[in-house]
Amino acid sequence: MNDLQDLELLIHSETPIIYIQSNEEKRISELVFRLGKRFGKEAFHWSVIGGLRKFEAKSAIANTENTPDSALQYVAQSKSPSITVLFDIHPYLDEPVLVRQLRELAKEHQNNKHTLILVSPHVEIPDELKMLSAFFELSLPNDEEIRAIIVKESERWGKKNNRRVQAKQEIIDAIVRNLKGLGFSDTKGIIRKLINDDGILGDDDIKDAIKAKYETLDSDGVLSFETKTVTFDQVAGLSNLKEWLNYRKKVFLSEKAPVGLDTPKGLLLLGVQGGGKSLAAKSVAGGWNIPLLRLDFAALYNKYYGETERNLRDALKTAEVMQPCVLWIDEIEKGLSTESEGGPSQRVLGTLLTWMAERDSKVFLVATANDIESLPPELLRKGRFDEIFFVDLPDHEVRSVIFKIHLNKREKPAENYDLDKLADASEGFAGAEIEQAVVASIYTSFAKDEDLTTEHILHEIKNTKPLSVLMAEKIQYLRDWAKDRTVPAD
Ligand SMILES: Nc1ncnc2c1ncn2[C@@H]1O[C@H](COP(=O)(O)OP(=O)(O)OP(=O)(O)O)[C@@H](O)[C@H]1O
Ligand SMILES: [Mg+2]
Repeated sequence: MNDLQDLELLIHSETPIIYIQSNEEKRISELVFRLGKRFGKEAFHWSVIGGLRKFEAKSAIANTENTPDSALQYVAQSKSPSITVLFDIHPYLDEPVLVRQLRELAKEHQNNKHTLILVSPHVEIPDELKMLSAFFELSLPNDEEIRAIIVKESERWGKKNNRRVQAKQEIIDAIVRNLKGLGFSDTKGIIRKLINDDGILGDDDIKDAIKAKYETLDSDGVLSFETKTVTFDQVAGLSNLKEWLNYRKKVFLSEKAPVGLDTPKGLLLLGVQGGGKSLAAKSVAGGWNIPLLRLDFAALYNKYYGETERNLRDALKTAEVMQPCVLWIDEIEKGLSTESEGGPSQRVLGTLLTWMAERDSKVFLVATANDIESLPPELLRKGRFDEIFFVDLPDHEVRSVIFKIHLNKREKPAENYDLDKLADASEGFAGAEIEQAVVASIYTSFAKDEDLTTEHILHEIKNTKPLSVLMAEKIQYLRDWAKDRTVPAD
């Protein structure tokens, strides 16, 4: 941890304003206190409730609460050089008077030697202050430091409860691995909670740690943490896709990709409606046993009108902190159809493409799409995705497995049904339609007070017009398009 030295350097280099994006207020306070001592400067801290206060002073300087201007005025008038940390000042940074006040204070730095440190979980520097300021990133705990936090928290719990915390080494290793990327206080908070509930660090705690980490990073609904992943055996067919994923699992999960191999980056799943694309996307996370984060374009556009790119960048950053993980963008064409030159979706596309090209993280992107017409061509260019898979309608064999999966799932043992006959009758059906036929026939049999039979399901199939019939031309077009451009998923 060289934060103290690094901050010292920044202050030495006469930077008047230092921004720290963090919620580690306690740690920053300690740093500022020590910096004050080292430089022989007066050190203050300010918050809207506490006002401006000298470190170790009993009370605040009068009338410095509620807004930062009187605190800044006090600092500006003070003759002795100082370091002042201001917590949560970001809501005030759109007030012209305050920005001007900061600017004048900073411009006089050569004479007054006042340093300001602005701390908040979210900072955006007004243009007027950019030349006068620098960003500082607090270091994050490394493996050893996270381990030390676990040891310390375990000892704490042990003393209080008069018994030792139970934890297997591999569980501790997994928790350390999964908590990387958070600050000290967040890490400590999560570990304390994991231990406090029962004094055991077990399998469940790995999942809880990942979830807690995600919640700490939460990016306001643009990303969601999907707890319902599926394993490969819950997905019928798609044998090529599964094989592709199995062959890459080890490389993706290894600390460092072996020489000559790149870390797998992502897939595009293209295909007919109801063919199981979304299901397959979820199974990547289930198959590789890593968290699944879903990026919701609708939330991106709705919530922050005019701030879409920044929020996309934040969401992508969050995904990187959560690595290794799957980042799933469902129906990507809906969020990216670039109908207007220079419009928000064009810029979002640009941001996404840049990220895809430059990132070097274990965030595996899985995108799905079924409308190639509105898919921006840039996205399909070689090298964007590792592979583009085409998910076609299931063949006879796969259909029978889909029946099997969905019957078993609803506690109707598949061996009681003629799967071959069902697969024959459901030619042209997508997986979603097969599932629907199973569900509907269970309703029917239940209503009639009968046990479910193959006949019930066949009846349902006969009464269904599959999309492949209703949209035959569109599907043929999609298949023709996919022929030379994609790899069959099955
Ligand atoms: N290969 C499959 N194996 C098992 N179940 C399947 C399969 N394909 C589809 N299903 C069932 O159909 C449901 C709907 O499929 P899914 O939503 O994954 O299709 P999709 O291709 O994403 O469709 P859309 O284009 O409409 O989004 C799945 O949740 C699953 O229950
Ligand atoms: Mg889908």
